[in-house]
Amino acid sequence: MKINNICCIGAGYVGGPTMSIIAQKNPDIKVNVVDMNADKISAWNSKDLDNLPVYEPGLSKVVKEARGRNLFFSDDVNKHIYDAEMIFISVNTPTKISGEGKGYAADLKYVEACAKQIAEVSKTDKIIVEKSTVPVRTSEKIKQILRLNNSDVDFQILSNPEFLAEGTAMRDLEIPDRVLIGGDKTKQGKKAIESLVKIYSSWVPKENILTTNLWSSELSKLTANAFLAQRISSINSLSELCEETGADIEEVSKAIGMDSRIGSSFLKTSVGFGGSCFQKDILNLVYIARSSGLVKVADYWEQILLINKHQRDRFSNKIVECVKNNDLHQNILLLGWAFKKDTNDSRESAAIYVANNLLNNKIRIDIYDPKVNKDQVDFDLSYLNENYDKSMVKFIEDPVSNIFNYNLIAIMTEWDEFKEYDWQYIYSKIKKPAYIFDGRNILNFEKIKKIGFNYIGIGRK
Ligand code: UDX
Ligand code: UDX
Repeated sequence: MKINNICCIGAGYVGGPTMSIIAQKNPDIKVNVVDMNADKISAWNSKDLDNLPVYEPGLSKVVKEARGRNLFFSDDVNKHIYDAEMIFISVNTPTKISGEGKGYAADLKYVEACAKQIAEVSKTDKIIVEKSTVPVRTSEKIKQILRLNNSDVDFQILSNPEFLAEGTAMRDLEIPDRVLIGGDKTKQGKKAIESLVKIYSSWVPKENILTTNLWSSELSKLTANAFLAQRISSINSLSELCEETGADIEEVSKAIGMDSRIGSSFLKTSVGFGGSCFQKDILNLVYIARSSGLVKVADYWEQILLINKHQRDRFSNKIVECVKNNDLHQNILLLGWAFKKDTNDSRESAAIYVANNLLNNKIRIDIYDPKVNKDQVDFDLSYLNENYDKSMVKFIEDPVSNIFNYNLIAIMTEWDEFKEYDWQYIYSKIKKPAYIFDGRNILNFEKIKKIGFNYIGIGRK
């Protein structure tokens, strides 16, 4: 079936960039991205391409090319569901905060609400594509909801998980390692898979498009994220051992990564991984394993999260000790709030947990991030801690010209600009003694120490 009209529900970090590329590469297909948040839709439609709701290098160029041609953003959800032949569900699936599975299971209420809405509005056959990361066998639930609420039209369900990483989303979409499409092995199911394969094959080589059954596709997404996070927790756990033994984690990481069986990516030690996916997906995996009675499997994967928390705690405890032991009663400066560089997304950022620990110890903080704003910082901290005291946190626009205020700087995000700062000049202006806690090991620590700073990195001395 040739698809002429696509609707994507959810104009977030996944839906926005993914649909922009699909539209760019398929100018003959009309792509409507809808969202219940009307403000977000007007921001996607804004003339100011520098302030789209999602910051991703290269995104504004693609939006500029396709928007108004065959890419549209709208809050008229029903109309575009009605018109579409293929509907992507790209809404968020946060960890449940109440009810069965609280704290672990993915909350599918938005996905289920979308399925119900699709069923109620549809008058023609449709292919429904799960883009959101969901627990294995969610497609079964979506099918039930669709059939229960509308038995007049045929719905085919596909799973097409997204593997893009924020900050490099456009490159990941343009040259994906693989595109994964899961579907039913029935005649209709195979036809639906073919329709989606055709859309991706406008720019992705056929051999990189992998088709599987629905459940393999759903589970592959969860486990791909768990494997990636596992590498980070592995290297982070070793960073503590390095600090005890005098080994250098950067050297160890390089040595491990040069083994072609292991490979070098995702071996960068840090103050802990963040982002909307890793924690949520591992919690979900743990929940599924535990619900299936696989206690040892569940405990195994849960360790990844325990190490991640431990890494954040140990980094922030070192800062607290430094402040107390050296009587540094001034503000401290946090550089970076986003969960990684090149994104304005701060979901689950290690910076939130570190800042919360500092605030609990009555340490005032100033924060600078090139893409995240003060409202987001306040939201993140008040979400984590209902006793959050806004007055203890200041957001600053220009850290270098205010540097004389501080004794202690903590680097939380690996933004390139932090590497490019004139650290010699900063040292000449900053209060002494001057401490740098490098949560990303981005600075040349020998040079920084030579300038005069007390340098505390991760996993090295
Ligand atoms: C994605 C995936 O879809 C999610 O499963 C994954 O785990 C994290 O990444 P993401 O695009 O990052 O989600 O989420 P977000 O940026 O929050 O965007 C979701 C959008 O869906 C929001 O704009 C929200 O307003 C919209 N939404 C949500 C709807 O339009 N309808 C709903 O019923 C719920
Ligand atoms: C991840 C997956 O990579 C992607 O395939 C999936 O679709 C969504 O989840 P994302 O969370 O956007 O992507 O970014 P990623 O680059 O994976 O980084 C996640 C976190 O791990 C960040 O906080 C990052 O700083 C951290 N990280 C990453 C490390 O600490 N060390 C590393 O070596 C790599």
